[in-house]
Amino acid sequence: MKAIIPAAGHGTRFLPVTRVVPKEMLPIGAKPALELIVDEARSAGAQGITIVISEGKELIRRYFEGQSDIQFVYQKEQKGLGHAVLQAKTDDDVLILLGDAVIAGCNASEGIVEMSRRHGGAAVIGCERVPREKVSRYGIMKLDGERIVDMVEKPSVDEAPSDIAVAGRYLLPASIFSYLETQTPGKGGEIQLTDAIRRMLAEREAYAYVYPGNRQDIGNPDGYYAALTAFRN
Ligand code: UTP
Repeated sequence: MKAIIPAAGHGTRFLPVTRVVPKEMLPIGAKPALELIVDEARSAGAQGITIVISEGKELIRRYFEGQSDIQFVYQKEQKGLGHAVLQAKTDDDVLILLGDAVIAGCNASEGIVEMSRRHGGAAVIGCERVPREKVSRYGIMKLDGERIVDMVEKPSVDEAPSDIAVAGRYLLPASIFSYLETQTPGKGGEIQLTDAIRRMLAEREAYAYVYPGNRQDIGNPDGYYAALTAFRN
């Protein structure tokens, strides 16, 4: 299993600091958030980590330079998360960890890998339980026990099949890259990872792993404050 950490996005929700400091490099205590994510991938057993960056985010490269298990690829145009992942195409299973999602209180990726083993190496998507009234902000799971039946992007409260939301970590087979290669642009004109996963779900079993910890999106100031508090406690 290889790890891919997409960190090439614009970070517009966290301007102006992201004009020079990538949001993924904001500190949680003395470490950049991205280092916590790298540590998480390593302890989950990733053999090699590819960080997807873009022009202007060389600070990331400088910080991790010289670490033998880390390599960098560039996403030249920000065409979406699915497109970013595709830049790191490999023949191995991939653990994808969003560079702006940190999870306090557990090693989420270890739990994901463990669940995949229990299900014979199946795909597993990391999830969190969200308040019902907020389901319209997330990709929401339709589940049969732990098995994923479908995913619904930003449903209304009435339409939401559960309160279990996609949350920043994915363990996927190498075949995800062939779905990404043929994926047409979706929401926002971007190549969405979720769209490729939904096509994959029609042909392969996948399971949802609900973290025992809590996920924070450090892509905006409120989420970042929440992350600082969560990691302090
Ligand atoms: P976001 O959905 O938060 O997008 O990306 P963004 O462009 O970074 O942020 P805003 O909307 O402008 O504020 C989730 C993760 O995927 C990466 C981001 O760097 C972040 O770690 N990403 C997103 C890419 O690598 N490439 C993309 O084209 C989009």
